[in-house]
Amino acid sequence: MNRDQKFFDMYSLVIGVLAAVALAILVLTMKMQDLTQGVYVRGVDEYQQAVLERIRPVGQVYLPGEQHSASLPTAHTPAQPAPVATVMTGPQVYNSACSACHGAGIGGAPILGDAAQWVERIAQGSDTLKQHALQGFTGSAGYMPPKGGRMDLSDGEIEAAVDFMVGEVN
Ligand code: HEC
Repeated sequence: MNRDQKFFDMYSLVIGVLAAVALAILVLTMKMQDLTQGVYVRGVDEYQQAVLERIRPVGQVYLPGEQHSASLPTAHTPAQPAPVATVMTGPQVYNSACSACHGAGIGGAPILGDAAQWVERIAQGSDTLKQHALQGFTGSAGYMPPKGGRMDLSDGEIEAAVDFMVGEVN
């Protein structure tokens, strides 16, 4: 056996051993994956389900009207206390609903406290003024919308505002 032949034999042996080791490592890693990730043991679907379950958010937000996907525990909400009806005073109503026009005389509105613009109106009597403020009024000066456009206000509140406006003239 010459030296070349001897080298070739040795070389083949080393290559063979390396290939065997590589194969062994491959098999070992697959086995390890089996044991740790469970993909091959339990099946992919089951595995993904398990992952989704683990990373599931703690809570979910449902907007009103949205269909609830899960049966929700019925939360005990204490009965809302009935809103306390707060009646605004004349000046409060005037400031929030009337001053826009009556403050500066917008659209011909008689200005608060301007006697010249109010005497004739006041002469009609308080009932007429209140009726005009409640139901709206179109006179020579312009258009007064019903309740000044604030239909959310009660009749009593509008009347209080009229009393306040009349009182400001003197
Ligand atoms: C959009 C503007 C506007 C708002 C807001 C408004 N008014 Fe007037 N108001 C008028 C105008 C314009 C007149 C004058 C109408 C006319 O005589 O031609 C008037 C007239 C009146 C009169 C006199 C009616 C009469 O018979 O002479 C009273 C009282 C009155 N408003 C009360 C109120 C009260 C109270 C509010 C708030 C709740 C209010 N107004 C809000 C425009 C407004």
